[in-house]
Amino acid sequence: MDERILIVDDEKDMLVLLKRIIEEKTNHIVETEYDPLKVVELLRKHQFNIIITDLKMPKMDGMAILDRVKNIQPYAIVVIMTAYATIETAIEAIRKGAFDYISKPFRKERILMTIDKAMEWQKLTQENITLRNSLKQKKGFPPIIGSSPSIMSITKMIAQVAKSTATVLISGESGTGKELVAKAIHYHSNRKNKPFITVNCTAMPEQIMESELFGHVKGSFTGAWKDKRGIVQEADQGTLFLDEIGELNMAMQAKLLRLLQEGEYKPVGGLTIKQVDIRFVVATNQDLKKLIEAKQFREDLYYRLNVINLHLPPLRDRKEDISILAHHFLKKFNFLNDKKISDIAPEAISALMSKSWPGNIRELENCIERGVILCRSDTIKIPDILPQEPVAHTSPLFDHNIYTLPFKEAKEIIIKSFHNKYINWILQQNNGNISKAAEQAELQRQYLHRLIKEENINTEIFK
Ligand SMILES: Nc1ncnc2c1ncn2[C@@H]1O[C@H](COP(=O)(O)OP(=O)(O)OP(=O)(O)O)[C@@H](O)[C@H]1O
Ligand SMILES: [Mg+2]
Repeated sequence: MDERILIVDDEKDMLVLLKRIIEEKTNHIVETEYDPLKVVELLRKHQFNIIITDLKMPKMDGMAILDRVKNIQPYAIVVIMTAYATIETAIEAIRKGAFDYISKPFRKERILMTIDKAMEWQKLTQENITLRNSLKQKKGFPPIIGSSPSIMSITKMIAQVAKSTATVLISGESGTGKELVAKAIHYHSNRKNKPFITVNCTAMPEQIMESELFGHVKGSFTGAWKDKRGIVQEADQGTLFLDEIGELNMAMQAKLLRLLQEGEYKPVGGLTIKQVDIRFVVATNQDLKKLIEAKQFREDLYYRLNVINLHLPPLRDRKEDISILAHHFLKKFNFLNDKKISDIAPEAISALMSKSWPGNIRELENCIERGVILCRSDTIKIPDILPQEPVAHTSPLFDHNIYTLPFKEAKEIIIKSFHNKYINWILQQNNGNISKAAEQAELQRQYLHRLIKEENINTEIFK
């Protein structure tokens, strides 16, 4: 990418000279401006790597330019030049964030060297910023959101168990946050600067699993053309998260038991026993006790794993968390999609709370993501998150309790219910277009309109 330099000086000759010097010796794009009052506008238009500015200018001085640059383009580098060099002004400029200070008249080499140094410095700081951000992502982990008593007690448990090295068994339905909790345990532990490694026990066939976990020595099987370190060794000093532990086959269960009991393992084809120091966290959405009864899971391994049990309740049992989670995901997906949706409508929250969420928090997260993407206003409304499900016309119009009511009352309820279901259906078929719906239903438009009003149906949600 070409670097861009802006030179500001009220002496036009100086601008021409500097531009020529820089363009002769570098590939940088040089722009010049003799009116300091126009600098702000330029800074808003283009990103500059370096701004070289004169100090004394009639309308606005170099210090003020430095201020503007720091506000508008904090990563741009400012170099100040002046014929009135005093040590005081130099110090003042550097203190305010200038990169360097050049006294006029200067030699060609001096200016070129300063530019080189500035570019180099900028590259380094940029790399540093990227590095810091990626470290932040690795080190930090998404917060555990929720204020229900069950989530509160889980967060408390995490804090308590994190500092120990005891094995933790996390159970719960799919999407309840098992992996999130496993990470939280690791990042709250003294091992937080060591690796956190996840192994999904379903994903790998038996032989591959063994060599992936424990590594192998060269020549131990066809294709083992050199020694390979296993995941277990990579996780030494850190935390190993074994996900879907209920899927682990019996042979691997025996090997895992040894690793848990003694901290020992043998690479495939190896003769020497290796020792590691690993904290284990395992997760399952199966009932391990049932697997033990079915002789698919070793009982001794179960007791080794189940030192501390954290059970994550399904979302339907902690509905009070739905609103706070939904708002949390709104923020997340606003950020990821560069959107500025400010809220979720109260009726949309009520609708979310009335659902049963078989896919738990993951399902809610996907639902809000969809809402953020579809939403065209500043508030997420019901149709953005819960698209109208087709009204089944085979569904019974009324249940048998209706017969216990007096005839007139029962008839009114049934007619009302019929109106409501029919109108919803016909509007949905016609994307909320009342004229088209009336035509299809062979009704007068005005009559349909009146029914819609009576039933208090919002046609917008079908659009
Ligand atoms: N309490 C919570 N606060 C915020 N986000 C959560 C919470 N619980 C779960 N999530 C989010 O929901 C999603 C699913 O969570 P996670 O992957 O940890 O579930 P899981 O129990 O491991 O699911 P599975 O059994 O399907 O693997 C993730 O994106 C996670 O960050
Ligand atoms: Mg998981």
